[in-house]
Amino acid sequence: MNTEVLGKLLSEPHLFKQQAFIAGKWISANNDQSFAVHNPATGQLIANVANLGAKEAEAAIQAAHSALPAWRRKTAKERAHLLRKWFELIMAHGDDLARIMTVEQGKPFAEAKGEVAYGASFVEWFAEEAKRVTGAIPSSTWTDKRMMVLKQAIGVCVAITPWNFPIAMITRKASPALAAGCTLVIKPAEQTPLSALALVELARRAGIPDGVINIITADRDRSIAVGKALCSSPQVSHLSFTGSTPVGRTLMQQCAPTVKKVALELGGHAPFIVFEDADLDAAVQGAVDSKYRNAGQTCVSSNRFYVHESLHDAFVERMARASAAISVGNGLDEGIVQGPLIEARALQKVEEQVADAVKHGARIITGGKRHPLGGLFYEPTVLANVKPAMLVMREETFGPVAAIVPFKNDDAVIAAANETEIGLAAYFYSRDIGRIWRVAEQLEYGMVGINTGLISNEVAPFGGIKQSGLGREGGSWGLEEYLEMKYLCVGL
Ligand code: SIN
Repeated sequence: MNTEVLGKLLSEPHLFKQQAFIAGKWISANNDQSFAVHNPATGQLIANVANLGAKEAEAAIQAAHSALPAWRRKTAKERAHLLRKWFELIMAHGDDLARIMTVEQGKPFAEAKGEVAYGASFVEWFAEEAKRVTGAIPSSTWTDKRMMVLKQAIGVCVAITPWNFPIAMITRKASPALAAGCTLVIKPAEQTPLSALALVELARRAGIPDGVINIITADRDRSIAVGKALCSSPQVSHLSFTGSTPVGRTLMQQCAPTVKKVALELGGHAPFIVFEDADLDAAVQGAVDSKYRNAGQTCVSSNRFYVHESLHDAFVERMARASAAISVGNGLDEGIVQGPLIEARALQKVEEQVADAVKHGARIITGGKRHPLGGLFYEPTVLANVKPAMLVMREETFGPVAAIVPFKNDDAVIAAANETEIGLAAYFYSRDIGRIWRVAEQLEYGMVGINTGLISNEVAPFGGIKQSGLGREGGSWGLEEYLEMKYLCVGL
């Protein structure tokens, strides 16, 4: 596939953009410098995207800063109408957006369409929420003064977004920012700029004014300089980042000198616990849903399976059967359920974890190696006889590997589940209402799935505790991130 072929796959070829977008204009880098984007399923070149640097990042901040006064002066209802239009355009171009996503990210077309709908749901939700920003009038303790609290847009915001959900992680940040009256600079991951650019083109068509949304594209090396420029600018008031915990720490440090508000959605390492009273079929289905969504490249993906010893063998057997039945291949082909991993180092990480587990005594029940298709494909894998010291139990895998450990009692399994600095998502299966409350309260995680492996939703507060991050996205909480409080004290 060459760079023109992707455009030809689309019903609306003009959604295929290779330039960045600043102040309402599509722009190339100085000297037309670009970076290559490849299809992870085939290795083919699909685009050459503008490779911008710190100077252009500053221009984007300036554009967002200039657009801010007029955008925040609009009524919430006006902003809501524009967001609603954007939502409708995203849904109307769902097939094209999903095709772009499959080709640059690898997830199967049906799953990509699911992500488009999930991403659009944030735009719809925050279009509705825009009109529900309310302040407060506390009862005054003074007889001669009255008190009020206003909520106002925080200002210029930056969104640094990951490759695993190239649309939803942008809309989850951009739509509350815009609803609140903020303007925005987006820096998408270098692996998946095309979905982001198409999304911004639709925002432009929806009538979002010039400078309100800007997007800077850069390769891995230049992303560092771009990130520094975005984090250090005194004109930027808020940074929202989704990605790894180490990068989140660095960005937080870079934001410290200008005391920016930061929202961080960082690494996961989710435990998935099956108690002896669980519905086994439902637990296996939930495990498959949670483990193999996006080939395991999901922050909330289950990483450590703890199964009560009375169900362990049956669970391993059923999980292996379900895993072996997953069809792996190019996500544009009919019936594919698992695509490739994103890049060679992701594949290496998975291989290292499996090799380490096997070296220390784990048994491969199914999978355990690169898929016969070659390239970046890895087989859905189930490991048993896993021990806590193995890498796969200590680090996020971000790949299609289910490591299963038996346990004897509730206290021990809860302690094992909590024994990590990570606190994003956890899952458990039980039918005992008393146990459900006890376990849910004791798990040290921001999100807990009970008798389900899928928890993400635009209405819910998505985010973690401990070193999984700060702040929440989605629901009314997602909008609060982009609002400042102002206290007014009025003498009578
Ligand atoms: C993520 O992996 O960062 C997001 C997953 C989700 O929204 O469900």
